[in-house]
Amino acid sequence: MLTIEPTGAVLGATVRGVDLAQPLADLDFGRILLALGRHGVLRFPDQHLDLGDIKRFSELFGEIQGSPISAADTTRPYPEVGILSNIRENGEYIGSPDAGQDWHTDMSYRDVMGFVNVLYGIRIPRRDGRPLGGTEFANMHAAYDALPQDIRSRLADATVTHNFEKFWEHMRRDKASGRPPMTDEQRRRRPPVVHPLFLTHPITGRRALYCNPGYAVRINELPEAESDAMLATLFTHQLQPEFRYVHEWNERDLLIWDHLGTIHRAIADYGPDEIRLMRRCQVMATKVFDPAFLRPARDAALQAA
Ligand code: SIN
Repeated sequence: MLTIEPTGAVLGATVRGVDLAQPLADLDFGRILLALGRHGVLRFPDQHLDLGDIKRFSELFGEIQGSPISAADTTRPYPEVGILSNIRENGEYIGSPDAGQDWHTDMSYRDVMGFVNVLYGIRIPRRDGRPLGGTEFANMHAAYDALPQDIRSRLADATVTHNFEKFWEHMRRDKASGRPPMTDEQRRRRPPVVHPLFLTHPITGRRALYCNPGYAVRINELPEAESDAMLATLFTHQLQPEFRYVHEWNERDLLIWDHLGTIHRAIADYGPDEIRLMRRCQVMATKVFDPAFLRPARDAALQAA
């Protein structure tokens, strides 16, 4: 039987009693959706999944985004299931070695936002028995709730421009990333987009701060200097220790998290010879704002009441 054990921290729960290599019953999917909204980050330990399983499970939540900036590589099986790794073969990285290594929200730079990240841990670096390369999250429901009332009121209808290039250039400039500069073609594929600053979360019905240091470049309704100052305030606010939670990985953890209610970063505390290998699907919010999609979550909530 599927069980959900909250971590007791500001985010996170462990889901047991389910084999994600098998089809999910509707009610179990509903319970997972509900728990995802409530806890933001769900860990499914000891899952034995192949690429097809990861893709099938991910597609339950919405459409999968392929590579954020290039056309899908159809020469390998399951191109939608990305590789995050510092493994090199013939001098070339087999996947993105430094993906997500500072605070951001995946796909806030797209017109259709991201909803869920599905990340499967295959090789986890360890030093002295301790896992490295954790993933850290911050809770954007809690961040919204803790904002001063005057900011919530003044910016209630504000919108934010998000730009993919901001994070890319930050990684090159400040993190010694070996990424090449973005090409004009890549810029054309990822123009800046606009989203509301505050969202009503479709699962929890609560407000969340939808803004992140990785991609947010401008609060459109404020003059530029005021926007810069307010963004700096929001970035500091949302990263306060009381909103943060670190997931420490085990091999065969399948972790999913909700991009609408959290921001995250990959912790780069391991060296080039300490191997990390993950597979990832980035799922867009193509379904979650549709009330029909949320029916299993409503059923699960009714059953639990
Ligand atoms: C990501 O930002 O999507 C990757 C997080 C991680 O590798 O821990």
